[in-house]
Formats: sequence, C-alpha cells, structure tokens
Amino acid sequence: MKRFIIANWKCNPTTLALAKKLFISVQKGLKNIGNSQVIICPPFVYLQELLKFKKELKFGAQNCCWEEKGAFTGEVSPKMLKDLGCQYVILGHSEKRKYSCESNSLINKRIKSAIKQGLKPILCIDSISQIKPCLKGVSKRNVIIAYEPIWAIGTGKTPSFKQAEVFNNKMKKALGLKTIILYGGSVSIKNVKGFINQSGFDGVLLGGASLRAKEFMSIVQAIEDI
Ligand code: PGA
Repeated sequence: MKRFIIANWKCNPTTLALAKKLFISVQKGLKNIGNSQVIICPPFVYLQELLKFKKELKFGAQNCCWEEKGAFTGEVSPKMLKDLGCQYVILGHSEKRKYSCESNSLINKRIKSAIKQGLKPILCIDSISQIKPCLKGVSKRNVIIAYEPIWAIGTGKTPSFKQAEVFNNKMKKALGLKTIILYGGSVSIKNVKGFINQSGFDGVLLGGASLRAKEFMSIVQAIEDI
C-alpha cells in the first residue's frame, strides 16, 4: 500500500505568487516518487491555478459544504471542488473545531456530502470518541483518518512512538485494518520514520513542515526510503 503524505498549507502563503513558487519547488523535488501519494491541500483560492500544474501530485481542499449548492454564504461546495479536479478534502481539523465551533454532527454532514460528490475525506480526530459521531452512516473505507493530538499541532511536541502506536492500534480496532490511518502534529524529518516504522501509521499529515519546500521534500524522501 502506498504511504500517504498530506500537506496542509492552512491559511498560507499570503499571495498566489508565493503559492506557485512553493508548489513548483515541491513538485520539482518529487519527480521520482513511487511509494507515496502526496496530496497538497492549499487554501481554496489557489486550487484552480495550482491544479493547472498538476502532475503526479493530487489535491485536496481544507473543508467543504454539507450541501451541493444553495444559500450557504462563505461555504464551498464539494461539487465545485470535484469540478476543479480536487480529489480529497480535509474535514474536522481541530482548528476548524476550535475557531469555527464545528461539531461532530456538522462534520458528519460534510463528510457525507464530500463522499456523495466523489471526494475522499481526510477526517482529523484527536480522540477515539470522535470517530463514531463523525462517521455515522459512513462506510469506513471511504475515508482516511488523521490522528492529530491537539497539543502536538504546531508545538514541536509529539507523543512517544509507543504512545502513538497504542493509539493507532486502538483506532485500527475501531475502524478495521483496511482504513488508512495517518499521524499529524509536529511531524518533522527527525520523527517521521518513527511514526511509520515504530507506530505503524500509513503516512503523515504535515502542517508547518509542508510550507518549507526543502524540509517537505526530505520528509517525502525519507518515507520513500522506508
Ligand atoms: P503541524 O500541523 O505539522 O504544523 O503541527 C499539523 C496539522 O495541524 O495538520
């Protein structure tokens, strides 16, 4: 199975020119990847331009509406994203839960809507208790799960590989062995191999490191070399 590497650019960078520059350097450095699937998730406004460069990389959005269209100011429809060529969407990220007060039931609606339009949701969770309500009525094989302890996001702190392995095993028990489960939260070149080799994750979700092209490419290379 291919290993997944999700680049969550969050609300960065601040101009289209910088977004293109970052994307081009990342893409150049990833010409010969074979064992991993890299998915770039830029802000909505850059998707269309970046999709024009599309080669071996795939794209995801950072959220999507629970409906296909209508009076939902500020929302972006999964159908629009699919139409642009997006294949994935991050949902339930802890920053959306915190700053936009997103509940498990709203996230569940977004997940269903994304799947209906042919997008693959990358559901972020930080506790097992979020799995059931977020995936109510959803087939587990239609989603990718990213385990991201909130305290590890952007802090440089991470759980030990053993702790992460214990959590990973619990999730596997709850979700079944076929579900792709990723680790996210302060992933760096120093710890990436441990989360895959020792904790047994199927890949990683990167925030900060995905904005630094060289570091990002070395992380991808490290995963390729495993
Ligand atoms: P980080 O972010 O890699 O900067 O910790 C991860 C995330 O929030 O998805």
